[in-house]
Amino acid sequence: MDRQKRVTAIVGTYRKGGIIDAAVDEILASARDQGALAEKIYLTDACIEFCTNCRTCAGQPGQERGRCPLSDDMAGILDKIEQSDALVLASPMNFGTVTAVMKRFIERLICYAYWPWGAAAPRKRKKKGTRRAVVVVSSAAPALLARLTTRITGLLKQALSLMGAETAGVLFIGLAARKPHQDIGVLARRKARILGRKLVQ
Ligand SMILES: Cc1cc2nc3c(=O)[nH]c(=O)nc-3n(C[C@H](O)[C@H](O)[C@H](O)COP(=O)(O)O)c2cc1C
Repeated sequence: MDRQKRVTAIVGTYRKGGIIDAAVDEILASARDQGALAEKIYLTDACIEFCTNCRTCAGQPGQERGRCPLSDDMAGILDKIEQSDALVLASPMNFGTVTAVMKRFIERLICYAYWPWGAAAPRKRKKKGTRRAVVVVSSAAPALLARLTTRITGLLKQALSLMGAETAGVLFIGLAARKPHQDIGVLARRKARILGRKLVQ
């Protein structure tokens, strides 16, 4: 019998019960309906220190992530990610990019790159993705405009790639700041359900 698939969502919203949260819930519910185990991690609930650019984690070659000397929740979160078959990476758009908590998380992913002092650019440790992923973004601006004028989707895909994941779909919810308690809408809900299934198929 197939092992139960694990899905982990990393959520960079500041608002529990907001648009991003609702979209992620829908994706995870759909994945659970397919028999998956799903967990949601709010970055606002985790203690994640800023990367200090000490390069300890990036200094040694190899496929495995480098060891970070900071003692916080990051190692535990990365252990969960590595035990997952599929990931969801979700953030509202703030000032044209991901939220500050999401950026702080992403900077710490440098442990998945080999980048000794003197090298001009980092090299990703894992060449190919072994897990599937979905990107979720919300913006006050219309989705198409926000997508075309920023590189938020590309940044989240790049982060997923460092974590050994290939992006299988993007849910971009525009006009997401019309009222404080806004429904994500029928279309976004439908797409979220489809992406949830896609994650674990
Ligand atoms: C500090 C801040 C900056 C924002 N910057 C942008 C922006 O640059 N572009 C945009 O379309 N929406 C922007 N927004 C609106 C948020 O993207 C929107 O409220 C959010 O996607 C809703 O998601 P949530 O319900 O999970 O909080 C900003 C909101 C805040 C609070």
